[in-house]
Amino acid sequence: MIKKIGLLTSGGDSPGMNACIRAVVRTAIHHNIQTIGFIRGYEGLIDNNYIEMKRESVSGIIHKGGTTLKTARSERFMTEKGISTAVDNLFKHEIEGLVIIGGDGSFKGAMELSKRFHIPIVGCPGTIDNDLVGTDFTIGYDTAINTVVEAIDKIRDTAESHDRIFVVEVMGRDAGLIALRSAIASGAEALLVPELKHDNDDLIKKIKNWRASKSSKIIVVAEGDESGGAFKVAELIKKHCPEFDLRVSILGHIQRGGNPTCMERVNASIMGFNAVKALMTGRRNEMIGIINKQVVFTPFEKSVKHIQSLNKDLIELIEVLGS
Ligand code: F6P
Repeated sequence: MIKKIGLLTSGGDSPGMNACIRAVVRTAIHHNIQTIGFIRGYEGLIDNNYIEMKRESVSGIIHKGGTTLKTARSERFMTEKGISTAVDNLFKHEIEGLVIIGGDGSFKGAMELSKRFHIPIVGCPGTIDNDLVGTDFTIGYDTAINTVVEAIDKIRDTAESHDRIFVVEVMGRDAGLIALRSAIASGAEALLVPELKHDNDDLIKKIKNWRASKSSKIIVVAEGDESGGAFKVAELIKKHCPEFDLRVSILGHIQRGGNPTCMERVNASIMGFNAVKALMTGRRNEMIGIINKQVVFTPFEKSVKHIQSLNKDLIELIEVLGS
């Protein structure tokens, strides 16, 4: 029976991480397991910066965005010195299992750690990008897309009033999943994402063919798209379609904040709860996920960054409905 686990959040924060932290800590307490929370992700492991998590440590956080354990993208953890210091600290604490809440970079770190430290590690997918294999929704994605849709609805109001085109840039360095769903839900006229090759001429042709009766047009661009982002797309349109009045809006980090949605809190709680149970049963080096409402486990090496193809039906849907 394990007696002590470590917990950290790593990489970009995402709404729902706190709900997951709470679930891990409270499930562990229920099973008489002590939780050490490391501050600022792998940085906290290296600096031995931690708190002993009590029931009260996670009171009143389920509804809050961000992460109360703080997070970082740790450069030091990518060095031999950093990782061996982290391992020493884990040994000192007599940690018998580790829960890591984060995205693909965090799980790559977990894979490195598992080569040197042979205790079970379970990952909970925490990223707004939804770019991990092995779960329908990562923690943070649902809240982020709702934030984007709310923002685009507001942009639509002003775009309508001025008969303007808006190029709206959303997050997603390598993945267009935030862009895809928010484009559908906001009734966008066009979508540019890294997963889909596109031709500038086609985009211009499409813009020129837009119905004159349609007063506002929204183009959603994922930040990682090959076009180079919203300003580049705007330049291209201005050059070829000077007749249009156009504005750019980059939504940025508002997508990472805010109170998690109900779905987010529920999923994060299920994942945190099951992460502790997984450690208790000796599962190791896997990411927990929820697919079709079932809890599933995917080895870290399969969960990290694989360019996923986007659902073709949804792409067609945007073309048809937004025309
Ligand atoms: O991975 C989540 C994410 O929000 C990406 O969509 C974005 O490209 C990146 O993080 C931004 O990271 P940072 O806040 O470190 O600049």
